[in-house]
Amino acid sequence: MGCRTAILISGSGTNLQAFIDAVAEGDLDLELSVVFSNDPGAFGLRRAAGAGIPGECIRHGDFPDRESFDRAVMATLERYEPELLVLAGFMRILSPVFVSRYEGKILNVHPALLPKYPGLDTHRRVLEAGDEWHGSTVHFVTAELDAGPRILQGRLRVDPAETAPELQQRVQAIEHRIYPEAAGLVGSGRIEFRAGQSWIDGEPAERPIIRTFD
Ligand code: GAR
Repeated sequence: MGCRTAILISGSGTNLQAFIDAVAEGDLDLELSVVFSNDPGAFGLRRAAGAGIPGECIRHGDFPDRESFDRAVMATLERYEPELLVLAGFMRILSPVFVSRYEGKILNVHPALLPKYPGLDTHRRVLEAGDEWHGSTVHFVTAELDAGPRILQGRLRVDPAETAPELQQRVQAIEHRIYPEAAGLVGSGRIEFRAGQSWIDGEPAERPIIRTFD
């Protein structure tokens, strides 16, 4: 059995589905222990139920501040003893107490070629800037938003005629490939977080692994 993994979502959960499918097909050796959402209406919770994965939900709106919400999430996750936390469209910023509790064990996927375009609305910003390349980045989560050590990037050439929703769809298809792959590399220990950096096969990685897609 692979490493015990918690997947945190806020919405549709297409990345979660990619993990479920990759595990079911034998392409990914992780044990999907729990799916957590901060939104009870998140479709991803239904995907979890369909796959027989326990679902947990705590509403952030029920807490006075970020840290008390995060402490409640940690207490819930602890029951599953996760070794890896996968943020898959989890749209809450994590407090330092949460990040330090799971240092080097939290992954995020961000729809841009970080360090370009941290934050929201990345596809529109890329089109407005006229960039040639766009894509998505899997990275370790640190206290600074969208700035942790990068692990794997999937990139594609931007068609200047495409709309932001079209570009978003193409980038999401890439995420469904690179995120399970990156999580598998971390789960197996080939990629590690050490001394604030990403290490691949025992060597500090100056840059992420890059995959180019059509
Ligand atoms: C993904 O495209 C992910 O990159 C993005 O949310 C989407 C979730 O889709 N994450 C962020 O923007 C984080 N800053 P999903 O719920 O269908 O997996």
